[in-house]
Amino acid sequence: MARIAHLSDVHFGANDPKIVSATEAWLERSQPDLVIISGDFTQRARVEQFRAASAWLNRLRAAGMRLLVIPGNHDVPLYDVFRRFAAPLRRYKRYISNELCPWYEDEKVAILGINTARSLTIKDGRINHDQMNMIKKRFAPVAPEKTRILVTHHPLFAMPIGKGGELSEAVGRHDDAVEAAAEAGIHIALAGHFHRTYAESAQKMVADAGGALVIQAGTATSIRLRNAEPQSFNWLHVHRNDRIELQVIVWDGASFQRGHHVEYSRDAAGWQAHELADPSARPGVRVAQAARA
Ligand SMILES: [Fe+2]
Ligand SMILES: [Fe+2]
Repeated sequence: MARIAHLSDVHFGANDPKIVSATEAWLERSQPDLVIISGDFTQRARVEQFRAASAWLNRLRAAGMRLLVIPGNHDVPLYDVFRRFAAPLRRYKRYISNELCPWYEDEKVAILGINTARSLTIKDGRINHDQMNMIKKRFAPVAPEKTRILVTHHPLFAMPIGKGGELSEAVGRHDDAVEAAAEAGIHIALAGHFHRTYAESAQKMVADAGGALVIQAGTATSIRLRNAEPQSFNWLHVHRNDRIELQVIVWDGASFQRGHHVEYSRDAAGWQAHELADPSARPGVRVAQAARA
């Protein structure tokens, strides 16, 4: 089994230092095999914000964490037009990571992060054709029993984000990206960006989606919340590539608590959710799913 913490949208410059410290304490206590952080490290891509994010990552590394990180749209300068177009991710590379499409593989999982942040769009993301080829190529030699995980900041799939179930924008060139993920045999697609917790079988979201379970993390530490959903992150236990557990770790105003806990199993019809009885789970964020017709 692989134990993975998936955090997103930490937004240094618009986050709560108390919650930042609490992420460190929780991770140190739980000792995940891997911590994935799916972008938006800063609020406005300013140097001091990147420095604060970098210090946080260094503290996690010093506590023994192995990290896989990718940039988000907020890590590209918005108002500094020269920098936005000439060197959009220079600060990210300097302070966070030089690698924009990181790879991690061990005996249980193979994980590829893809950078979807672009200069030309303010908040929307995009995948280019080289990256789609990279998805297919990187996963091609991976042993079939391993769980294949793709990480992006912008989700590959349009999903309900509003209270009334309005659909979000999907990543640019979304049809091709979904096809590449399906061809690569992706089992789990992790993303962030919407500051909303969500999980659903891709097959129930779009046609020809392949076999992925789509999992969105909320914002771990930002004070900018969507629909007043509190800060949270996802705690994944990957048992096999057809059975995983997802537990939402929710900020209750004073500390992170274990919340909604769901097991997913995969069959020919896609991933099925099974609520796990968990007496310790507190009310708070539930894993939202697509509305059933
Ligand atoms: Fe964000
Ligand atoms: Fe974002």
